[in-house]
Amino acid sequence: MILDAILRQVSVRRDYGALAEYIAPLGRIDPGKFGIAVAMRDGGVISVGDAEEPFSIQSISKVFALTLALGKIGDALWERVGREPSGNRFNSIVQLEYENGVPRNPFINAGAIVLCDVLLAGHEPKEAIGETLRFLRFLSDDDGILIDSEVAAAEKTGGFRNFALANFMMACGNLLHPPELALGVYFHQCAVAMSCRQLALAGRYLAFGGVNPSTGRSVVSPQCARRVNALMLTCGHYDGSGDFAFSVGVPGKSGVGGGILAIVPDVASVAVWSPGLNEHGNSKFGTAALQTLTTEMNWSVF
Ligand code: DON
Repeated sequence: MILDAILRQVSVRRDYGALAEYIAPLGRIDPGKFGIAVAMRDGGVISVGDAEEPFSIQSISKVFALTLALGKIGDALWERVGREPSGNRFNSIVQLEYENGVPRNPFINAGAIVLCDVLLAGHEPKEAIGETLRFLRFLSDDDGILIDSEVAAAEKTGGFRNFALANFMMACGNLLHPPELALGVYFHQCAVAMSCRQLALAGRYLAFGGVNPSTGRSVVSPQCARRVNALMLTCGHYDGSGDFAFSVGVPGKSGVGGGILAIVPDVASVAVWSPGLNEHGNSKFGTAALQTLTTEMNWSVF
């Protein structure tokens, strides 16, 4: 079947792309790892390769943080974060000054730091982190999901750009908590480790109109799910978002751990992992695998 064919295709390639070495533990991952999982409406998961092995979800966590932040403050979020593609790298600083400390979208680092500030809501970082972790465990129906503390520590040690972004937004009045608290939440949510199977299951509410199709229970409103998907399509791959939409054709969110969550509305939620990254910081083989899968299955939102 198609997933086996994809695994055969990638297993002979060695042009993996670059590891995210600026986060030390991610630079030590075997670049030959590859897994893919497809979670269907009935909760069945089809997977191949290293689909059961947890990896650092990194910026894919921003999808779930956005969902929670919209649940907390609704449309008021859009006074603090935009909804346009940035056309810049995920950790770019340049645009933020021109635009008065309002990040272009919730998926670039600056935007996600604002989401973490919203999730803090006057509480301690560990409470906000706990809320995100509980949400992920609930969505995947798996209490085994954990934060990789080594990754979280490395994010902090090397997080000079993120400190710069947070400090600048604080100066502009777009953070309500001290930058180190918002960053504490941010670094830990990026360091959540999940397998392709867990991630694909967690994404199903986005594929099925905000509903967990296994229980029939609403997770978020259909409108919220549509909006998160729209932002994944337009901003989920940073300055590679246009190319991802062109070649894969469905909403997707990448992380520098090499994961991608892709949503095929009304059909499936797909998670892929291959740690090597392309020039935009998105998984190289992960993107290629999704392109093959959506092409062969005739899956597209267009
Ligand atoms: O803040 C960072 O740079 C990382 N924790 C997350 C970046 C990321 O995953 C961007 N995605 N492609």
